Amino acid sequence: MGVVAAAGALVAAVLPVLAASAGQTLAQVATARGFHIGTAAGVRTLASSQWRQVADAQFNSVTMGNEGKWDATEPTQGQFDFAAADAIADYAAATGKRLRGHTLVWHSQLPSWVSTDRTAAAQRQVLIDHVTGVAGHFAGDVAQWDVVNEPFNEDGTLRSSVWYTRLGESYIADALTAARAADPAAKLFINDYNVEGVNAKSTGLYNLVQRLQAAGVPIDGVGLQAHLIVGQVPSTLRQNIERFTALGLKVEITELDVRIPLPADTAELTQQASDYRAVVGACAAVAGCTGVTTWGVGEVDSWIPAFFPGYGAALLFDEQWRARPAYTAVVEALGGTATVPAPPPVPSQVSVASFPFESGLAGWGSRGSEVTTQVTTVAHGGTGSVLSSGRTATWQGPTRPVLDLLAPGKLYTVSAWARTASGTGTARLSMQRQNGTATRYENVSANTAIGTSWTRLSGDYLFLPGATALSVYLETTDTTGDLYLDDVTIETEGPPVSSSASASASASVSVSPSRSPSVSPSASRSVSPSGSPSASPSQGGPAGCAVRYTTNDWGGGFVGDVTVTNTGAAVNGWTLRWTFAGDQRVNQAWGATVTQTGAAVSATNAAWNGTVATGAAVNFGFLAGYTGGNARPSPSPSTARPAPSVEVRDVDGVRRLPALQGIVERDDLGAGTGEHLAERGGERVVRRVVGPQAEHPAGAQVPGEAAQPGDGVEAAVAGVQQVRGEWSMSSSTASKRRPGAAGS
Ligand code: XIL
Repeated sequence: MGVVAAAGALVAAVLPVLAASAGQTLAQVATARGFHIGTAAGVRTLASSQWRQVADAQFNSVTMGNEGKWDATEPTQGQFDFAAADAIADYAAATGKRLRGHTLVWHSQLPSWVSTDRTAAAQRQVLIDHVTGVAGHFAGDVAQWDVVNEPFNEDGTLRSSVWYTRLGESYIADALTAARAADPAAKLFINDYNVEGVNAKSTGLYNLVQRLQAAGVPIDGVGLQAHLIVGQVPSTLRQNIERFTALGLKVEITELDVRIPLPADTAELTQQASDYRAVVGACAAVAGCTGVTTWGVGEVDSWIPAFFPGYGAALLFDEQWRARPAYTAVVEALGGTATVPAPPPVPSQVSVASFPFESGLAGWGSRGSEVTTQVTTVAHGGTGSVLSSGRTATWQGPTRPVLDLLAPGKLYTVSAWARTASGTGTARLSMQRQNGTATRYENVSANTAIGTSWTRLSGDYLFLPGATALSVYLETTDTTGDLYLDDVTIETEGPPVSSSASASASASVSVSPSRSPSVSPSASRSVSPSGSPSASPSQGGPAGCAVRYTTNDWGGGFVGDVTVTNTGAAVNGWTLRWTFAGDQRVNQAWGATVTQTGAAVSATNAAWNGTVATGAAVNFGFLAGYTGGNARPSPSPSTARPAPSVEVRDVDGVRRLPALQGIVERDDLGAGTGEHLAERGGERVVRRVVGPQAEHPAGAQVPGEAAQPGDGVEAAVAGVQQVRGEWSMSSSTASKRRPGAAGS
C-alpha cells in the first residue's frame, strides 16, 4: 500500500473535530482527495496544547522543523542524538500524519566539526556516515526525505558550500545513494527556495535532476520551499511543477509561507488568501504534486518575524490561533467548503512542584562538596530557605532530582529566588540530564546578576524523552560564596483558563473530593453524585476537582498526562483512581505514586504535591504500554485521544468530612463491580464500582497521608482507552526503532 493511502486511512480514523467546527477540517478535505497538507513541527510547538489542537485537526503531514538537522542529530562526530527528532516522528505516528524528514545534507545548521580540515575522502565519509545514521534510524517512518537542501545559487550554479567545495557535484549523488541504501522506502528529494517559478535557479535544479536520472542515481522528487512575499506568487508556478513531474518526479511545496509587511491590513490578508489559493491550487491541479506543507501553524511558531524583520502574518493561523482568510482559501483550493475552526482554549499554568523550604529539604541536597541545609535565618517567603555553604566550584549548589516530576515532551517553567550571603555573582538554574552514560548540562534560566537581596531566576525547560536521570541545580560564577535558594516552583500547562472554554474543548469533568480522617481506607467505593458518571461543572453536582487527562500514543505505548484541579476545599493528600478499559499497563510515573492491579490504577500524591489549595492544580503523568486491539474509544471533543468519564469515589464510603459532607450518608456497602445504592442528604444516589477494589489493604497507609493524615481527593476515571486498532494496521520492520510504530 502506498504512503498516501495508508496515512490517509489513519488520519480519517482518528482526527478529532474542534468544538465549533461542524464541517470538515483542512486535513479531512485533503485526505479525502489523497492530498497532503502539512506543517513543520518542533519539540517546543508539540508542548503547546494550542498548537497541538490546531495541528492535530488541520494537517495530515508533518515535517521536522529543526530536529532533523545535522546540529541536532549528530552534534558530535559519530554520536547521534535522536531525542528531539524522535519526538516529531512519534507525534506523526501518534496522530496518523505522514512524516517528512528534513534535512540530511545542508550548508546551514551544521556543527563546526563537520567543516574542520580533512581530506575529500574523509569528508565524503562524514557525509555518508551521517546520511546512513540518520536515514537508517528513521527507516520505515519517513515518507519523504529532503536529502539535499538548498544546493543552488540564484543563477542556477551550485552553491559553494563545504560539500561542493570539497567534493564537487558528486556529493549530491553520494547523499542520495546513501539515503536509498539506509531507507529504501523513503522518497528522496532535493529541496530549495526561489525555485517555484521557471527561472535560472529552478532550471539549474531541472538540469541537475536530469543528470542524476541519466546516471541512475536515486531521485524521487523536488521540493519547492515557497517562502513567498504577499502578492508575488510566480505566474509560472504550475508550468514549473509540470516540467518536473514530466520527468517522472514528485513535486512538493515544502515550506510555504506568504509574508506580509507588518502590520498586515485586510487588503493584504485578502491578497495573501489568493496567494495561498494559487499555490495550493497549482499543486493540486498536477497529478505528481503530492502535497503542500506550511512552515508552521500560526504566528507563534513562524520563523518569519525573526528572520525577516518587519514581516510576519505569513501562516494560516494568527497569534491567537484563529484562522486567517488564507485558511478558507486553501480548503476551497482543495475542493472543500471551509468551516472556520474555533480557536483552541487558552491553557492555564499549573503547579507541578513547589519547594517553599519551610521545613526540611524536600529532596534537595548537595552538589559536589558544598553543604546544602535548610535554615530559618533568611527567607524569601515564609521563614525557611536553603543555604549552600562550603562551595569550592561554580557548579556547586543545591540540587534535586526531578525525573519523577516531569513528563517527557512537556514544557516547564522553572523559577526560584536566589541571593548571596555576601558579595555578588551571576546565577542561573540548570538541569543535569543523563541519557544512559551521556551527560548534558542544560541552562534553564538566563544568566542573572545576584547579590545580597533576593533575585528571581526563571526560565522554560523542555524535557525531551529518553532521560535516565534529571536534576535541577543552582549555579553561580562565584566559586566560593555562600548562596541562599528559596521558593522553587515548577509549572506547566494546565486546563483551559476559562470554564466556558473548558466546556467547549477540554475533557475536564468535575468530581468531588473527599477528606479522609484516618489513614486506613479499606475497599474503595464509588458514588456518583448525580447518577451520571460524567457530570460537568455546569451541570451541578458537588464541585470538588476537575480532571484533565490526555494521552500521546505512539502505538504500543503512550504517555498519559493528568491534571487535577482542586475546585473544592484545600486538601493535604489525594488519590486518583481509574480503570483502564483494555490491557494498558503503567510502567513508570512522575509526580505521583502509581500502582496498578489488573485494570484498576491508583495514583497517590508524591511527598511534595499532596497539599493542593482551592483552585490550585497538580499534574502527574505516566508511561504505559499496551498490546492487542482495544476497543475503539468514543471520540473526544478536543484531542485525538478519548476523554475519560469521571465518577466520584470516596475513600471508604462512610467517612464524612467537610468537602464530602452531604454526599455519602449511608452506603449499602455492597461489594464487587456494579451499581450499589448509597444515600446522600436523604436522597438515594448510585454508587458505581468500576474495577477491582482494595488497592490499599485495610490498615495500610495511603502514601500521601503518611506524613499528615488529612484530606483526599479521589476520582475514578472510567473508560480510558487507547486508539489501537488503527495503529496495528501498519506493519513494522525489524529495523525500526520503535516496535509497532506507524509505518509509511
Ligand atoms: C528555519 C527554521 O524554521 C528556524 O527555526 C531555524 O532557526 C532556521 O531554519 N529553509 C529551510 C528550513 O530549509 O530548514 C529553514 O528553517 C527555513 C528556510
